[in-house]
Amino acid sequence: GIPATASARGTGIPFGAAIQNEYFDDLGYRQLFTGECDLVMPMNELKFALVQPERGQFDFSRADRLLAFADANGQSARGTTFVWWSTNPPWLEAIEDPLDLERALVEHIERVADHCKGRLTSWDVVNEVVAHDPQEHRGPLRDTFWLRRLGPRHIPVAFQAAARADPTARLVLNDYDLEFRGPRFDQRRAIVLSIVRQLQKADIRIDAVGIQGHLYAHQEIDVEALARFGADLKALGVGLLATELDVIDFQVRGGPAEIDAAASRVVGDFLDGLMGGQRPETVITWGLTDRYNWVEDVMPRSDGAPCRPLPFDADLRPKDWYGMLRRRL
Ligand code: XIL
Repeated sequence: GIPATASARGTGIPFGAAIQNEYFDDLGYRQLFTGECDLVMPMNELKFALVQPERGQFDFSRADRLLAFADANGQSARGTTFVWWSTNPPWLEAIEDPLDLERALVEHIERVADHCKGRLTSWDVVNEVVAHDPQEHRGPLRDTFWLRRLGPRHIPVAFQAAARADPTARLVLNDYDLEFRGPRFDQRRAIVLSIVRQLQKADIRIDAVGIQGHLYAHQEIDVEALARFGADLKALGVGLLATELDVIDFQVRGGPAEIDAAASRVVGDFLDGLMGGQRPETVITWGLTDRYNWVEDVMPRSDGAPCRPLPFDADLRPKDWYGMLRRRL
């Protein structure tokens, strides 16, 4: 159980990673989190359907196990998420009456935030609410169950409930595709800024924006635009986090060496942009080892080789870019 990177913990900007209950019994996996992370984050265990599978029936067992682990290791933790298009239980999506639905949302936030109170430094209050491609889309917001049933006000409703339920956790709007070059990405950044301004105008607390950072190795990071985005948020008094960093390599030709070189490049550019506008509150990778990663499931490589999205390979050996990342935090 020797950490792969000696004394990696505890300096500068906190480094964290998303951890999964289902792999917790893999000792090497677990020890990697102990050795490397200032912060851990339950990857799925606080999502809606897992926490409240039936109305009024809450199950915190998986999340509590991970939060107890963090606590025992002296690590901080953060939570995701109250509002997402993806993990709604069937009972929730069956609610037709907007008032009843709003009540269900607020009750969920109150119960979950209260249960975790004092143990999480921040919450993703809403996740992926920006339209995937605003140019092709009718409005700035993603077409989701929440938007259809409650309208745009589900966003302020969620932030307001979260602020009331947990006055100390930082409240975060979390989204993806905020770092690349091109009009679609410019628009997505602008939409995030406008949501922040609208919440502030309504006197509703939003503390930070989470950039997921699922980096396509073949896509160009707009370093200047990302830095400007961070500076614009700073001017609004709003912080910045990288919440789900990993490298999606299905377009990279070659073997592990080529893939890892591409990863170093894209992560380096990302950090240039991320650090260029304001100091991020934390940088979190979406897992730690390639042994368990979501990219393999959703964006596998066409050559059939295992993808290499995370800081440590499947044998728990650190990539060069991990050393680079840690030196920069
Ligand atoms: C993913 C998890 O990694 C998977 O284990 C799960 O099956 C689905 O969700 N953007 C997000 C994350 O906001 O919550 C997603 O996590 C990955 C994409």
